[in-house]
This record gives sequence, C-alpha cells and structure tokens, in this order.
Amino acid sequence: MSARVFRRSASPNPPVAVEAHGSTIVDADGREYLDAAGGAIVVNVGHGRREIADAMAEQAARLSYAHGSAFTTDALERYAVEVGRHLPVDDPAVYPVSGGSEAIETALKLARATQLARGEPERLIVFARWGSYHGNTLGALDLSGRKPLRRPYEGWLGRFRHVSAAYPYRGGDPGSQALGTTQELVDELEQALAAAEPGTVCAFVGEPIVGATLAAVEPPQGYWPAVAEVCRHHGVLLIADEVMTGFGRTGAWFGLDHYGVRPDLLVAAKGATSGYWPFGFVAASGEVFDAVTGAGGFVHGFTYSHQPVAATVAREVLRILEAESLVEASASKGERLKALLADGLGEHAAVGDIRGRGLMVGVELVRDRETREPFPRAAKLTEAVVRIARERGLLLYSGTGNANGVDGDTILLGPPFVVTDAELVRIADGLREALDLALAGLEAGAGA
Ligand SMILES: Cc1ncc(COP(=O)(O)O)c(C=O)c1O
Repeated sequence: MSARVFRRSASPNPPVAVEAHGSTIVDADGREYLDAAGGAIVVNVGHGRREIADAMAEQAARLSYAHGSAFTTDALERYAVEVGRHLPVDDPAVYPVSGGSEAIETALKLARATQLARGEPERLIVFARWGSYHGNTLGALDLSGRKPLRRPYEGWLGRFRHVSAAYPYRGGDPGSQALGTTQELVDELEQALAAAEPGTVCAFVGEPIVGATLAAVEPPQGYWPAVAEVCRHHGVLLIADEVMTGFGRTGAWFGLDHYGVRPDLLVAAKGATSGYWPFGFVAASGEVFDAVTGAGGFVHGFTYSHQPVAATVAREVLRILEAESLVEASASKGERLKALLADGLGEHAAVGDIRGRGLMVGVELVRDRETREPFPRAAKLTEAVVRIARERGLLLYSGTGNANGVDGDTILLGPPFVVTDAELVRIADGLREALDLALAGLEAGAGA
C-alpha cells in the first residue's frame, strides 16, 4: 500500500489546484473557479500577489527562524507597531501564533493569566454563545456553539458555558437557542452571570458579526456596547473573535469598529496573511499585558509562535490593504453584492434572508419564507448548491444547523476585496442558478 494524503475533501477525486490570481483559482485541467468565498473567507487581498511572495522569500532567505523565547525580530517588532494603528484595542501588545484556533487558545489562557495576576483565582468560568465558531482544537471547539462540529466530540467538551446567539432573524424560534433583541440578550447574560458565584467568571467570547455558523449575522442595535458594559461591570474580560471579521472583511478594519467597542483581547487570523502563510495573533490591551507581565509573565508558547516569515507576510498584506484602500473597497463592493443578490434572490421562495457587512455576505435558505421553516437536514440543500456551483466554476461556502443545531442551510460569500464588478454579477447570477438547479434536484428526488 502506498502512502497517501488524508484529505480534507469529502470527494474521492478533488480537482488539483495549480495556480491562482485575483479572485480565480485554476486547476490542473485548466478549469477556472471564481473564488466567491476566498477559500474559507481568507484571501482578502486576492490570490497570486507577487510582492507577497517576494517579501516572503527575501525574509526566508535572510532569517527563517529564531526561537521566540530567545530572540525578537525586526519583522515582528515592526508588524506589532503597524497593525497596532488599526486595532480597536487600547495600547495593544501582539502575541503572534499560527492560526485562528491557536490564537483563541492563547486568548483563553491569557484571560486566565490576567485574572490570576489580578489576584482573582476563582475566576474560571468562560461564556461563549450558541451559533458561533471559534476553532477546532478542543478548547476552541468547546467555546464554539456549532453543534454539527461539536457532536462527535461532545464527551470531551463541556468546560465552557453558552448563552443565546444574537440572531435577530431567528430570535425566539423554538429550538434556535437564539434571541433577537438587545434587551433579551443582555438580561440573559446578566442572569447567567448572577447564576454563577460572584467573582467566578473569567471572560466572555464572541464574534462581532457571526461568520461560518450563522452566515454574516449582525447583532441587534446596541448589543455590543451593552455587552461590553455588562462585562466591565462584572470584572469579566471581553474577548473579540475577529478571525473572520478582521482586516477589512466587514468593510471596517475590525468588526467591533462598527459598534465603537474596544475589547480586552482581540483574536485575528485568516485575512491577516490572506492565506499566504499560516498566521494569527492575540492583541492584548496594555492593561492585560501589564498585569500578566508584571506577575511574572505568560506561561505559554508554540514552536511556531513569533515566526518572522509569518510577520513579514502579515506586514506586506497590511501594506497592500492600506495602499490600495481595500478596506473601503470591501465596504462598497459588499453593498453592491447585497444589491445584486437582492435583485436576483430577494423574492426567491427559498431565500429567507440576505445580510452582512462589507464583503462578508450571508444568504439563509428556508423552505417557507413566512414561517422561516428550514429545509430538513436530510435534503442537504446547501451542500447541493455548493456542489452544483463548483461544477459550474463558482466556489461558495456552506453552513448547516443554523436554525436549530441540525436543520438550516446558509451560503456565505466572502470574495477577495479585488473582486471586479463583472465577477460580483457572476457570483449573484451563479448562486441563483445553482440554487434553482439544487431545488429542481430536490423536487425530482421527492417525485421519484
Ligand atoms: C470566527 C472564527 N474563529 C476561529 C476560527 C478558527 O480559525 P482556524 O481555522 O485558523 O484555526 C475560525 C475559522 O473559520 C473562525 O471563523
């Protein structure tokens, strides 16, 4: 038996990707795919940037690795200063790692270290929300309120607590574990905090705008300032998971910029290096940094944390975002994409909601627009839409379980910010065609 790749793809013979440029990926047969999801909402600056490859190669040739416990590097020191100008965090200190899940784990431990440094060892409880995703390592998965991913590992989970999703479209629906108004959500959080012993809650974690699990769901008005105030009042650290929303994805540098909220800890990854290198970081407020370093330092670290090639790539991505005003482009192109979708799908019988900010746009599919009844999971509607679209050269990102943890179908769009207008039109048209074909397939199946 020869060795083989343990592939992530469910398909036995996925196409072989050989090159990419702009918003297009090309396979070994020369077929082109319009990358309307930027992979998993990653490729903010677009594919095939020679300047990033050059910066990466130059750094790798000069200094590819020096252990973070012994050295710092120019690349890292400069990146921290440059990215700090955009972070909605007071006096930030940046702890770089290799991806979103690692960054979430780091933020959790940093929150715990902060509470210990403050002389509050009883603060162990962490709250997250249903209808959320924070990563696939065990700690990050335990935070995640995404049932389809939790299910096989449930026996190992349960360390963290969850409150309702802030999900206006489904707020109060039976089985949704979602609430729709700020008042309800804040009351629930206050009650959850009151139910814990005083002084035992460490942190609250949330995505400013929920990505993969709910497909670009914004909270109701006033939610984030109110939650930040509750956290501050109770001595609970606020951790913003900006892995997907960061670096312009929602049309602002960071998701919390839309709400004027500054967290104690901010977690970023994905768009920070736009997929060119595995990278993520935690930005800690100056207060957190001072507390932890003042109490003897942060007991943590990875072989690949503080990696200079990663920092170089992140610097170059940041430079491109600034130089080409790509965050502004995300804002305006996102509005255009939503308008195109509203034209093509706004009245579609199977489309319940079109939403999002910037180039993070979600479409929720429903069996009944009036009642918001989802398609049953067995119909695998979103999977069919994504498969049909891919066969026709359009890459989409699917989500399931948003309605009640099992049922529910969403499509998340997140093309590179360099996407052209003609490509936006193709995305909207292609999604509608794939949806109609998938629905026709369902009907044919039901009639057979
Ligand atoms: C909001 C959010 N947090 C964390 C993660 C985990 O990041 P990674 O896949 O890089 O580990 C993701 C990935 O999709 C994400 O969307």
